[in-house]
Amino acid sequence: MTDAEHETKVAGSSAETEGGVGALDHEKTGGSSGHGSGPPKRALDDEASEQRLPSDVEPGGFDHLQQTARDLEDRVDLGPMGTTKPPLPRVMAIANQKGGVGKTTTAVNLGAALAELGYRILVVDLDPQGNATTGLGVNARNLEASVYDVILHDVAIEDCIEPTNVRNLFVVPATIDLAGAEIELVPAFSRELRLKKAINTVLDDFDFVLIDCPPSLGLLTVNALAAATEVAVPIQCEYYALEGLGQLLSNIQRVRANLNPGLIVTTIIMTMFDARTRLAEQVVAEVRSHFGDRVCRSVVPRTVRLSEAPSYGQPIIIFDSSSRGATAYRELAREVSGGAPQRVG
Ligand SMILES: Nc1ncnc2c1ncn2[C@@H]1O[C@H](COP(=O)(O)OP(=O)(O)O)[C@@H](O)[C@H]1O
Ligand SMILES: [Mg+2]
Repeated sequence: MTDAEHETKVAGSSAETEGGVGALDHEKTGGSSGHGSGPPKRALDDEASEQRLPSDVEPGGFDHLQQTARDLEDRVDLGPMGTTKPPLPRVMAIANQKGGVGKTTTAVNLGAALAELGYRILVVDLDPQGNATTGLGVNARNLEASVYDVILHDVAIEDCIEPTNVRNLFVVPATIDLAGAEIELVPAFSRELRLKKAINTVLDDFDFVLIDCPPSLGLLTVNALAAATEVAVPIQCEYYALEGLGQLLSNIQRVRANLNPGLIVTTIIMTMFDARTRLAEQVVAEVRSHFGDRVCRSVVPRTVRLSEAPSYGQPIIIFDSSSRGATAYRELAREVSGGAPQRVG
């Protein structure tokens, strides 16, 4: 076992050993890898009672993941990483063009946990699906303006900032209009910098702006990367964890070269960690061995409660404050902020 493996820290995992790592290694579910199969089950008192039996290492062993990680290391520059956290205000693009890796869950719950620490947080929903908007309890139907109007029609961003049920946490909502933005932006003047210009007008009011990116590398994501001071990449703890990461990182490099020279990848968040598989441990160790300190020590466990919270319009710290998911996102918030003193009161 490497040091990195020893360091893997999953909220609540010591209390809930779930039969121990690897206890279910040989039980396969014949391709049903859990999420999305059927309606969400409600865990009563113990999230670990979830009955999903994840598949373990794919045929071909672990070489493929390791090779992908090495290729990435050879090709990409994540930007300089100091030993101290970047200064506030921090504008963090939460990006990964893969869908379903935990971008929105992280934007909502890291945002809420940072707000709980007293930071002023703005979540910008940049996904036409609007999941961060609904996950924060904002009903897109009652809105006069959304991020679409900000980007395409020069509506002032401050006119569409909505409060949430968490103190210090605000959201710029998205509606399905945004689906047209990728195309409408193509001929637009200064099309890559529209979000940046808008966010700059309210930056004095916030400590962190978290941009929930869509699952693509189009102009919306470019707008997020151009507006950001840094990038956070959620990575699902699965065999194909690093697949496609090269494209994201090359896009980041391109944005750095052309639009935003200071852009750095500061934060890699391992999500949907399932302590019952050896695979999850191996993926985390592998990602850590290549990306080092950028990988957060706190790993987000796969829990039913995290997937239930959005349908109640609540971040996990409100929905189930003592759950493992809440603990994980609180730990992440402490780690990401590094305890920096708030700028605004
Ligand atoms: N740690 C987790 N445990 C269980 N379910 C999760 C977890 N993180 C995300 N999910 C669920 O997985 C799905 C995809 O997550 P989401 O955050 O929407 O990903 P993305 O924004 O990258 O597409 C959602 O249904 C979400 O509720
Ligand atoms: Mg999303």
